[in-house]
Amino acid sequence: MTSKPRIIVTRKLPAPVEERIAGLFDASFNPSDEVLGADEIIARAQGADGILVSPTDKLNAESIARLPKSVRIIATFSVGYDHIEVPAALKHGLTVSNTPEVLTNATADLAMLLLLGAARGAYWGERMVREKTWGAWSPTHPLGLDVTGKRLGILGMGRIGRAVAKRARGFDMAVHYHDQFRLSPDVEEGAVFHDTFHALLPHCDFLTIHCASTPETRGCVNAEAIALMPDGAVLVNSARGDIVDDDAVIKALTSGKLGAAGIDVFKGEPDIDPRYRDLDNAFLLPHLGSATLDTRIAMGMRAVDNLEAFFAGRPPRDKLNG
Ligand code: DGY
Repeated sequence: MTSKPRIIVTRKLPAPVEERIAGLFDASFNPSDEVLGADEIIARAQGADGILVSPTDKLNAESIARLPKSVRIIATFSVGYDHIEVPAALKHGLTVSNTPEVLTNATADLAMLLLLGAARGAYWGERMVREKTWGAWSPTHPLGLDVTGKRLGILGMGRIGRAVAKRARGFDMAVHYHDQFRLSPDVEEGAVFHDTFHALLPHCDFLTIHCASTPETRGCVNAEAIALMPDGAVLVNSARGDIVDDDAVIKALTSGKLGAAGIDVFKGEPDIDPRYRDLDNAFLLPHLGSATLDTRIAMGMRAVDNLEAFFAGRPPRDKLNG
């Protein structure tokens, strides 16, 4: 009888996922769910064949080089993989996989929640109710922004961007987008392509970010970009915090250049720039994009599918190439 592959699971996963892992592998779990630093992951990985990580596990080139040689696969429980230096892992002969597709709808739903919440003042409205500052109904105060008929700019028209476009069409929004390549007309479904990010910006009553965090996109929503947007535009970010320049966004929200923002992801989260908390026109959520039970189970099962395929000698469906 051959022994089961030894797997380290760095965060607590939904019960059905952990049950499946326990059946397939000789697994070590993290029931207390504390975030492990790279040193702790490396220590726990001694003698392991694979590790199942999450976006909180930062594996840079130096940490990857220190992983035991027994480890042959890093499967991440996320579609994003900016927490793993993939080229370094590949250089060390490791396989790396992610969990695309299964979180597309949940993340697109959340982007719409952010968009609507920002436009309609979900934060200040809720606070008025809770803090008992809700006065008599008034024709002029407080007021939000209409969504219907407005232009929505989408940065990154991959699966999630397209799912947001589909939802936005239901609100009669005109969809504009920028991506590296123009989509075919049947996939574009009337969305207007702009060949640079800066060319997209003047058309954005709302801008929603759905690109990956890469050296090219990090910090691209900066003061220069925001200046190109219409006055009072709304920014939505459910992709990665480091795609925006926090200082520029906070200054623009303070001055009114940006009318509002709906933000689910932050640079350095959960230790966010504290100035965000003081902004009435910012609707803030704690990285909830994929946070539904069904979606988190589907993500876990997809990560396990990848591990199972790898240890059966098949290429994992979501193997990353760089
Ligand atoms: C991902 O999968 O990359 C998400 O950010 C986690 O919700």
